[in-house]
Amino acid sequence: MNIALIGFGNVGQGFAAILRDKANDLHAQYGFDGKIVAVATGSRGTLYDPKGLDINALLIAIETGDLSAYPESATLERNWIVQRIATESNADAVVEVSPTNLQTGQPALDICYAALDSGKHVVLANKGPVAVAYHDLMKRAQAANKLVRFEATVMAGTPSIRLALQVLAGCKITSAKGILNGTTNYILTQMEGGMAYGSALQQAQELGYAETDPSGDVDGWDAAGKAIILGAALFGKQWTLDDLDVTGISGISSDDVAAAKQAGERWKLIATVTPEGGVVRPVRLSLADPLAGVGGATNAITYASDLMGDVTLIGAGAGRKETGFAALADLLDIHRLT
Ligand code: HSE
Repeated sequence: MNIALIGFGNVGQGFAAILRDKANDLHAQYGFDGKIVAVATGSRGTLYDPKGLDINALLIAIETGDLSAYPESATLERNWIVQRIATESNADAVVEVSPTNLQTGQPALDICYAALDSGKHVVLANKGPVAVAYHDLMKRAQAANKLVRFEATVMAGTPSIRLALQVLAGCKITSAKGILNGTTNYILTQMEGGMAYGSALQQAQELGYAETDPSGDVDGWDAAGKAIILGAALFGKQWTLDDLDVTGISGISSDDVAAAKQAGERWKLIATVTPEGGVVRPVRLSLADPLAGVGGATNAITYASDLMGDVTLIGAGAGRKETGFAALADLLDIHRLT
């Protein structure tokens, strides 16, 4: 499978490293041979080699700040713009891991459309296009007879989407409720241990949990974007951010965290999604609540369903390799189905 990688930040690099490190296992176990043929970044250069790029050299080059240090070769192109890669490259799948814009989904959304229209599958870790245009993406994919997968967009590689859409198929899911943002959960957990808000946020950024613009995390918009994706995938809705009731954690002080702790409670940023709408807000939970025990960048989601009652999934919700894995899992799903 030839892969074009749109975006080469934390997640893109994490994904590339997994593809390199697991190449032998993926071939032996699944007959999967993933080759990165293109990498496009917003400001750090673009590479296309129809014969495949060397992942080690890519990772070394990007360490220098951009891709110009990547070694020359006869078939290497450095001037293809991202639209051209999406349409004219020999990629079988485009993996969209560029920074999220939850208002417009752009520029990634048009890249996804171009890729589908020119016969490429699309895998997204970028939440913007999925939140803004879920149903259009699916229609476009169906018309092109290609697949769109987006496991990474909610709870990184913890299979929240696959659980709901594939594993629980046949159950009617009536609501989803959970901790869907790793950065804020990490900050709240560190604050409970006595760390100041600013230092905890800085750590979350250093660990690769936070969005490029972390206000999207702390103000609740990242969790809201995930709630929109769940509303579309579970209930067929197409909400916008304005349709949701969203409050972030910036109003929670160290004193609030300490007061909750003293009372045997914990603050968590909880997203709730039902067919009627989505709500994101900090909630003080009793320690007896299973969600209260979910600490650090870990996420959790409880699906309420007719046949199974509540089914809860807990796992990593952010991080370089955790999100990179989600993209790999989606590509393996596409490989299995095509
Ligand atoms: N910024 C997001 C988070 C990354 O902290 O959860 C994963 O979507």
